[in-house]
Amino acid sequence: MNSQWKKFRSKYLLISILISFVITCFISLLPFGTDDCKCEECKTHSKENYLKPIISSHGWKPSQKFDHHLAILVPFRDRFAELLSFAPHMKQFLDKQNIHYHIFILHQIDKFRFNRASLINVGFIHVKNEFDYIAMHDVDLLPMNDNLSYKFPNVGPYHISSPNLHPRYHYSTFIGGILLINRNHFMLVNGMSNKYWGWGLEDDEFYVRLKEAKLKVHRPNNVSTGTHNTFKHIHDKNHRKRDMAKCFNQREVTRKRDRQTGLNNVLYNIDDVVNITISNVSMTILNIALICDKSITPWCECTKTNEIIYQGIKERKEAVDDETQDHGVESRKNYN
Ligand SMILES: *[C@@H]1O[C@H](CO)[C@@H](O)[C@H](O)[C@H]1NC(C)=O
Ligand SMILES: *[C@@H]1O[C@H](CO)[C@@H](O)[C@H](O)[C@H]1NC(C)=O
Ligand SMILES: *[C@@H]1O[C@H](CO)[C@@H](O)[C@H](O)[C@H]1NC(C)=O
Ligand SMILES: *[C@@H]1O[C@H](CO)[C@@H](O)[C@H](O)[C@H]1NC(C)=O
Repeated sequence: MNSQWKKFRSKYLLISILISFVITCFISLLPFGTDDCKCEECKTHSKENYLKPIISSHGWKPSQKFDHHLAILVPFRDRFAELLSFAPHMKQFLDKQNIHYHIFILHQIDKFRFNRASLINVGFIHVKNEFDYIAMHDVDLLPMNDNLSYKFPNVGPYHISSPNLHPRYHYSTFIGGILLINRNHFMLVNGMSNKYWGWGLEDDEFYVRLKEAKLKVHRPNNVSTGTHNTFKHIHDKNHRKRDMAKCFNQREVTRKRDRQTGLNNVLYNIDDVVNITISNVSMTILNIALICDKSITPWCECTKTNEIIYQGIKERKEAVDDETQDHGVESRKNYN
């Protein structure tokens, strides 16, 4: 009697443990409350919600009559003269196309070297609930041909300043200058790498991200102008020295595809959001202080003592040609 009772009790115990285990597992799989939890795991669970297009509620202008909202993200430091030309030009150019847009000046205010890609990541995070596509836009490149379309890039990223139109860069995998990409595609590739402090190559790494995600880059095909008259390049080479220095192992690291950093781990503070109007164009300045993890990218500061001089890496073209091989871009044929 007693031993039977013991047997029954242990069986009962075992079954209860099993049942509660199953219930716990089941509950942990339910998507409850994932929106406001902080852990990494939950973030991936809530991705589905995150991807739904959110149409502007407060908006910059009454925007109900527009299907799409473009955030023009302009990485920026010390380019006020260029901005004075850029703002009115873009307004005049885009108003003709009936595009609903707002310009965000991504102003890097920390003391580290310029980081165009991280600024774009930060700008994207700031605008992603209200805008469903972005233009990564150089401040010194003004579109002159009205056939250059800034409409929503549905099927894939749209490279406006294509190599056959850009005044300076003509290699076929070039996607810098001006690139339109929709929110879902930018999130799909985890944005841009945060490892590019100093000038150049972040756009080539981004090209490899798009390629790996099988996102085909589209380009203008009805433009009769060429490299000298499609854009106005308001860049003064003599006054604007590019920060081409390479420190520590920067050169090796930045010539490889980065699987470590991106939209999900860009480190920053936005110190201030300022509204500014230049010739009737209202824009928003984000004062962004990037944070550098020196264990990953010690070259965010590059002093003369730890700078490494590579002879012959003066021109971007040379650096990029072997660059694309290092990135594993074997074929450029299926690319137009
Ligand atoms: C040129 O191509 C763009 C993009 O396909 C299109 O939006 C625009 O209407 C075209 N322009 C003309 C004049 O056909
Ligand atoms: C714009 O596109 C149209 C239609 O394809 C073409 O006829 C025209 O030449 C283009 N204009 C310019 C300035 O590129
Ligand atoms: C900037 O402008 C936006 C849109 O008009 C407005 O919502 C926001 O409150 C303004 N911010 C400041 C600091 O004035
Ligand atoms: C600015 O806006 C005012 C009022 O809408 C208008 O009269 C003026 O012409 C505009 N100025 C420019 C430079 O567009």
